[in-house]
Amino acid sequence: MLLVDPTKKLSYNRRIMDGDLVIVYERYNSMKPVKVSAGGVLQNRFGLFKHSDWIGKPFGSKVFSNTGGYVYLLAPTPELWTLVLSHRTQILYIADISFVVMYLELVPGCVVLESGTGSGSLSTSLARAVAPTGHIYTFDFHEQRAASAREDFERTGLSSLVTVGVRDIQGEGFPDEFTGRADSVFLDLPQPWLAIPSAAKMLQQDGVLCSFSPCIEQVQRSCETLKSHFTEIRTFEILLHTYEVREGELGSWQDGGRGSVKSCKKRQRSTTTNSEENPGTRTILARLNSEAKGHTGYLTFARLKCTS
Ligand SMILES: C[S@@+](CC[C@H](N)C(=O)[O-])C[C@H]1O[C@@H](n2cnc3c(N)ncnc32)[C@H](O)[C@@H]1O
Repeated sequence: MLLVDPTKKLSYNRRIMDGDLVIVYERYNSMKPVKVSAGGVLQNRFGLFKHSDWIGKPFGSKVFSNTGGYVYLLAPTPELWTLVLSHRTQILYIADISFVVMYLELVPGCVVLESGTGSGSLSTSLARAVAPTGHIYTFDFHEQRAASAREDFERTGLSSLVTVGVRDIQGEGFPDEFTGRADSVFLDLPQPWLAIPSAAKMLQQDGVLCSFSPCIEQVQRSCETLKSHFTEIRTFEILLHTYEVREGELGSWQDGGRGSVKSCKKRQRSTTTNSEENPGTRTILARLNSEAKGHTGYLTFARLKCTS
């Protein structure tokens, strides 16, 4: 079993070094991960950037190209990684992830069992939550996905906090060596109810399980199975609404401003601080962002029944 180095803290408060992974930020919807190498270059629509100019600069720096264009070099935090990672599977996004981290009651030192690993989007945030002394043991039955996830955890500097195993968790359950040791279990599997009895065996007294499923039929079957071992069974759907807020003239979003959304009118909602809607009056406008994500899945949480 992998020993975790308790002195290894996750810190992004340092300077960029040769071999580091940086997130090259062009704008909020255009970012990409780049491994820094002393002789490397990045060419994009803003010009040619030499990696050697980046080395020694703090994360967050604005760097310039040969033509005067610029990008920002950001640290590969779990939040950004989730936005730029290569999608080998469906992944969990920030709204669901933050809810999971909270409701699994994760703190430094926790041991978490997870399956499937998928693209490692959730695992990355789980690892940061339990660092520096906890550990994530994540399992996927797909060998290539497990290998790619391992490579990603190396790149993001999390490999000492995450161990990836290849195993059919629905068929075989979690390995016996974890019996009674897990603080939390997370399942993102097509038939989670098959893994629930094993998850119950792995959890410590009071441990919490979460299962993510896109369909309500999966949730219903999981809840039926959960009843025998778990209590406090609750299911949530997390819907994230992001808003654009600005001061402007009433009607400006409808008549030619950036807000005159052509593709998504039904989802637009405009609220104003002024009850008399006089065109020409400047006021604060808030508009639901047309890119707001809808349904991703249901999160079912449950706590292991106390046996004593
Ligand atoms: C949707 S992905 C998980 C995504 C992950 N939560 C993330 O945020 O990146 C589901 C994964 O479960 C794996 N899987 C499906 N059935 C499995 C099983 N019986 N045992 C282990 N892994 C399984 C699949 O190979 C796939 O990688």
